[in-house]
Amino acid sequence: MNEKKILYENRDIDKKCQIKNKNFVEETLKTLNLESENLKFRQIEKEDYHKSYFELLSQLTVADKPDYDSWLQRFEEIADANLTKIFVVEDLNEKKIIATITCYTELKFIRNLGKICHIEDFVIEENYRNQKLGSKLINLAINYAKNIGCYKIILQSREEATPFYEKFGFTKNSQAMAYYFNK
Ligand SMILES: CC(C)(COP(=O)(O)OP(=O)(O)OC[C@H]1O[C@@H](n2cnc3c(N)ncnc32)[C@H](O)[C@@H]1OP(=O)(O)O)[C@@H](O)C(=O)NCCC(=O)NCCS
Repeated sequence: MNEKKILYENRDIDKKCQIKNKNFVEETLKTLNLESENLKFRQIEKEDYHKSYFELLSQLTVADKPDYDSWLQRFEEIADANLTKIFVVEDLNEKKIIATITCYTELKFIRNLGKICHIEDFVIEENYRNQKLGSKLINLAINYAKNIGCYKIILQSREEATPFYEKFGFTKNSQAMAYYFNK
């Protein structure tokens, strides 16, 4: 597998930030002023099940669509745990999710009870690439991670996406490994 672990360090840690404060998501979205005429940047909603969210994820990895009840159950589990924030971009004209990025917060004992943000499931719909949507979402993730007081961000980059991440200050960190139960 040609994946590299990519790291973004935040040296300006605000230790007062508490992850349970839900305003961080809305504040981050508001501060960045991402809106355009037909594109809505927001957190994922239950009805996104019907708005091609899984079709979008399938452009990145294996993402079989579960039945709606199973989707709702997982949606609630993610919301209750309150450590995973899934941002999406909706094309309001098409009523379709055309980009997404997930930020998972890992709570640590090390680094003075530090937090790490993991970026996952980051994909822009093929027809919307090279229009700076990826830039906006990665900036959103960086700002969100900074706002909640993470000391670094890590992600697994595809070889071909490495130059994209480097533009935003990410650096190659270490050789990542994975163990799959179902190969
Ligand atoms: C990688 C991805 C998220 C980039 O999103 P995007 O909206 O197309 O990128 P942007 O339009 O914001 O591009 C920003 C800059 O990065 C560059 N860039 C974008 N993708 C690149 C790539 N794969 N390799 C090198 N540079 C790239 C652009 O040319 C642009 O450069 P500029 O600022 O000098 O003009 C998108 O192509 C994608 O979804 N790819 C498939 C899934 C994927 O690889 N996800 C990442 C998993 S690790």
